[in-house]
Amino acid sequence: MFNVQFKIMNNGKKIPSIGIGTFTVTKETELTTALNEALKIGYRHIDTATFYQNEHIIGNVLNKWLTSGQVKREDLFVTTKLHIIDSFPEKVEEAVKASLEKLQLEYIDLLLIHCPVSCYVDENGGFVPAPTDHIGVWKKMEDEVDAGRVKSIGLSNFNMNQIEKIRASARIPPANIQVEIHPYHQQKKLREYCKKHDIVIVAYSSLGAPGVNHFYRAVGWHDHELPGVLTNPEIVRIAKKHKRSPAQIALRFALQLDLAVIPKSTNAERLKENFHIFDFDLSDEDMKDIEGLEQGIQTKIIDLKFLSPIITQHPEYPYKELIE
Ligand code: A2P
Repeated sequence: MFNVQFKIMNNGKKIPSIGIGTFTVTKETELTTALNEALKIGYRHIDTATFYQNEHIIGNVLNKWLTSGQVKREDLFVTTKLHIIDSFPEKVEEAVKASLEKLQLEYIDLLLIHCPVSCYVDENGGFVPAPTDHIGVWKKMEDEVDAGRVKSIGLSNFNMNQIEKIRASARIPPANIQVEIHPYHQQKKLREYCKKHDIVIVAYSSLGAPGVNHFYRAVGWHDHELPGVLTNPEIVRIAKKHKRSPAQIALRFALQLDLAVIPKSTNAERLKENFHIFDFDLSDEDMKDIEGLEQGIQTKIIDLKFLSPIITQHPEYPYKELIE
């Protein structure tokens, strides 16, 4: 097995620096095969969310590995996230119990508020922005830690001011935040803020989500043509120099920024490739060259307005860099 490194969160719990992302994988056979492959390779960190609609598939796979003794529960790290329609204080406990049932687990390692915008569902199944109560939701998440159903709690897609509001009133401070970070959108200020407050960052889309333009075109987002990270000439040059793939360079870059990563793949070779990032170093010069690729928020890939354009009008729509 390759050498897997961990990050230690502010509550003393360990989170493996690499996990498998599962967003968009909802086909049972595809996800089951990918997870079995990932577990064989040595992945122990699995990232899901109620919104991804695949917790039950993950639960079936984990149950087989756990009951056959191939893996111990304490060696697994499972993250799930409160759906935007469950981010209300009165819904947290029920949502956690529902996730646990689907995952067939006694506890969740890390529970995140998936995004700072809460929504209702209208009669046509559309998301309608609803008033939020982040502090109220957080208190209920703290109760879930007390009850032993959740080990660590954190946030996802929150900006610094939103994190700070929770941190200032929390009994249990956020241990983790999951946000988009890749060579074009490096979130330096947020990284500095998290370092200062001992919040481990898990980066999503750290490969720049190859294939995203195809996806956005398919859903009619023609305004969203994004440059590919893995085809960037600098990334390709550095990859050649290290005799690695561009994906390994993008992931290693994130690791050296002190982030954990959760690249999603359903391909056995790419799962192996993505896991094999602990036995080489990018030099300071490589890191500087990649840092020079920063293009700011306009190259952000995942935008909540994808759920519903009306979300941009929500007061907690998050994509602003605040706190000076
Ligand atoms: P696939 O599942 O066919 O491997 P992200 O997690 O950043 O959103 O990226 C997910 C996308 O990146 C998926 O389309 C996945 O496709 C692709 N991908 C994952 N690993 C690699 C890799 N090593 N090289 C190229 N593409 C990859």
